[in-house]
Amino acid sequence: QPDGIITVIVLGASGDLAKKKTYPALFGLYRMGFLPERTHIIGYARSKLELEDFRERISAYIKAPIDAQKLAEFKRLCTYVSGPYDKVEGYQRLETAIAEVERDAKGSKNRVFYMALPPSVFVPVARGVKLTAYSRSGFNRLIVEKPFGHDLESSRELHRALAPLWKEEEVYRIDHYLGKEMVKNLLTIRFANVFFGAVWNRQCISNVQITFKEKIGTEGRGGYFDEFGIIRDVMQNHILQILSIVAMQRPVSLDAEDVRDEKVRVLRAIPPVKIEETLLGQYTRSEDNTKPGYLEDSTVPPGSNCPTYAAAVLWINNERWEGVPFILKCGKALSEQKTEIRIQFQDVPGNVFRGAPRNELVIRVQPNEAMYMKFVNKQPGLSMDTVISELDLTYKRRFSDLKIPDAYEALILDVLKGDHSNFVRNDELDAAWKIFTPLLHTIEKKKVAPIPYPYGSRGPDGVHEFVAKYGYKRTEEY
Ligand code: BG6
Repeated sequence: QPDGIITVIVLGASGDLAKKKTYPALFGLYRMGFLPERTHIIGYARSKLELEDFRERISAYIKAPIDAQKLAEFKRLCTYVSGPYDKVEGYQRLETAIAEVERDAKGSKNRVFYMALPPSVFVPVARGVKLTAYSRSGFNRLIVEKPFGHDLESSRELHRALAPLWKEEEVYRIDHYLGKEMVKNLLTIRFANVFFGAVWNRQCISNVQITFKEKIGTEGRGGYFDEFGIIRDVMQNHILQILSIVAMQRPVSLDAEDVRDEKVRVLRAIPPVKIEETLLGQYTRSEDNTKPGYLEDSTVPPGSNCPTYAAAVLWINNERWEGVPFILKCGKALSEQKTEIRIQFQDVPGNVFRGAPRNELVIRVQPNEAMYMKFVNKQPGLSMDTVISELDLTYKRRFSDLKIPDAYEALILDVLKGDHSNFVRNDELDAAWKIFTPLLHTIEKKKVAPIPYPYGSRGPDGVHEFVAKYGYKRTEEY
């Protein structure tokens, strides 16, 4: 419980992100009793709405199991102010509304500004709230969402515009993958267990794959997606964040700056990705003709070369990882939805069990959080035959009555607590862009054509050969 009152101001309160993520997460925290007692939520957006209409919308936003009484209580914490993003009057009205909520409160007056906004209004709003609605007697925190620019230069430009207004310690850059349970668990698995620490290196690990697959295409957001492509949308942020935690050295402590220092260090040891070590794809109409191809989306420019699938290999030039390929793969409109980390160990040297495959540790981020180790076991019975088995930790079985929090619930709670560990620091963002910017520029300059793959398939032809080239051995290959 912080001292004083907290007001959360949701900028862009009638937009998609607020609807799908911000309000449901705030409600989730309220329902579970995690919102500090004196918390108020003020929505701000351009749409002119009466308070009751806005509160009705909140009910529509919330789909999770509803406790009607809790929802009614939660809605009473929520108010709304409408105003433009580019004029000071709007922010003055917002300031008046915040001051009204804070009027009788004792202690500090803390404000959290959640920017659920498109990048085009990002800087004017950050400026507007700083100049007009910044608290003089409590903390101020600014939550921002990607895209943080579209390459190294534009990201630095954005930083140059924001830095004079908001101090780095006030800024919380969300990468919602850092709020996912299994991603948060990576630090624990790696640094609280003696046996993982012992094998987590180039002597024991052959290759690492981090895979993100989605069943849906870009339906409804083709126009947005086409400006970015899958590398900017998913790989440069979500997948690279996972990589940085898988590969980082042990931090000095769990303190946010110690953790982020190590993440930055490992990212800085990764040279830019090479186009020759990349494979790009774009989905076409499904084989059964029921799902449209990417180019059939009317919001996508005709003939676009934008990749909806990408595989790329990253190398880490340090003592622990030199020579170990980190294969990142991500794509839309595939046959399944899955995000997982697959760590394949080396062959057993001088193995007396000929033909026994490699060990693999799989950490499934979603769906159905799990972690399992594939290992070789004696086939029970009278022979000495081997069989591949699994040491299996499936969350649903092991923690059956537990509700795993939504990533946004976890992250908003971190902001309220002032914990930066799961947010992206500016130098981390810079290092991430350095890895991908030359590749993105080459793809765009040379108009590299992606390989077509049908909607609902396993991705473009050549993916298996691609991972095999970097040392991944399937069990059948033994
Ligand atoms: C977003 C991307 O950041 O992450 C989307 O813009 C993607 O394209 C989404 O679908 C995936 O998030 P999740 O939590 O559904 O795996």
